[in-house]
Amino acid sequence: MKELTRKRILVTGGAGFLGSHLCERLVAQGHDVLCVDNFYTGTKDNIAPLLDCANFELMRHDVTFPLYVEVDEIYNLACPASPIHYQHDPVQTTKTSVHGAINMLGLAKRVNARIFQASTSEVYGDALVHPQKEDYWGHVNPIGPRSCYDEGKRCAETLFMDYRRQHGLSIRIARIFNTYGPRMHPADGRVVSNFMMQALRGEPLTLYGGGTQTRSFCYVDDMIDAFILLMNSADDPGGPVNLGNPHEVSMRDIAQRIVALTGSASPLETRPLPADDPWHRQPDIALATALLGWQPGTSLDEGLLRTARYFRARLAASQQTPPGAGTHGAAAASARTH
Ligand SMILES: NC(=O)c1ccc[n+]([C@@H]2O[C@H](COP(=O)([O-])OP(=O)(O)OC[C@H]3O[C@@H](n4cnc5c(N)ncnc54)[C@H](O)[C@@H]3O)[C@@H](O)[C@H]2O)c1
Repeated sequence: MKELTRKRILVTGGAGFLGSHLCERLVAQGHDVLCVDNFYTGTKDNIAPLLDCANFELMRHDVTFPLYVEVDEIYNLACPASPIHYQHDPVQTTKTSVHGAINMLGLAKRVNARIFQASTSEVYGDALVHPQKEDYWGHVNPIGPRSCYDEGKRCAETLFMDYRRQHGLSIRIARIFNTYGPRMHPADGRVVSNFMMQALRGEPLTLYGGGTQTRSFCYVDDMIDAFILLMNSADDPGGPVNLGNPHEVSMRDIAQRIVALTGSASPLETRPLPADDPWHRQPDIALATALLGWQPGTSLDEGLLRTARYFRARLAASQQTPPGAGTHGAAAASARTH
């Protein structure tokens, strides 16, 4: 392990998919980590191995309410991230993004902490520019079913930039593109988890709009590397930084890879494309590469293989668990190409 100064670090949304990997990494680096989560989509299972670590603490708290703690750094990840979850209670989603940002920025200002915002490629909406660079302002529907998430995250970015301009706060904004890996929710309707579960259960893989729309997928370990590099970068990017894997694949391509690597006999089945579903999503990561010297190193096949191992184990465990145990609070079954 590299020698690092020990810091007190708050991770909101720390029991979620990305948050749990981030907490794990920061604990391993020797920092004191405070994980704050209301378990809306996150679970204690995700952080179970950390609960016995002396430098890890868990607090059940909703970030829409103020929080008073002493910390050196804040990673603000709290927010449901998949359409099924964020559309389940859209008012709460906007509150989590906006009130959550206000509360965490207020805390950062009080304790003079650097603060990192988990923003999203969804701020670009149904982009008219491809691939998207940070200076593209986006093409977002302000009144659609995805708006609670997209506009909530856009408003959070505004707040972060205004705290920087008005109060001189040290901020970092990551515009995260699709990320996948172990501890994704099996029923969140995101493309990788959806295809994995369908393939492992031997069900048809649902392809929306014929499967020609594309996404780029970043493996979680690469993304966590980028979070930590961005948080610790001496150079202030002065605004948002795209993080993701620029390698673009079609939905059909990824479905076929998952069928092949799981050894499934599942067929592919096409369905109509849902409202506001973007056709392309690909990051331009030139800024991240220049600023952080970062680019994702895990190949899609390797990342999918590790993810499949997780889902296979999870599925096997759930078949031995009584019905209802271990489900996520907001989860409902349907599928989207997020
Ligand atoms: N995973 C991705 O591909 C992706 C892409 C773009 C952006 N992001 C962003 O990264 C962050 C983490 O995403 P994820 O994939 O880990 O999602 P996730 O749903 O697994 O994690 C979100 C966590 O936030 C918690 N949470 C939600 N509302 C809260 C509240 N009001 N107070 C406290 N905790 C709350 C949830 O319980 C969960 O543990 C989110 O902000 C998301 O918007 C993720």
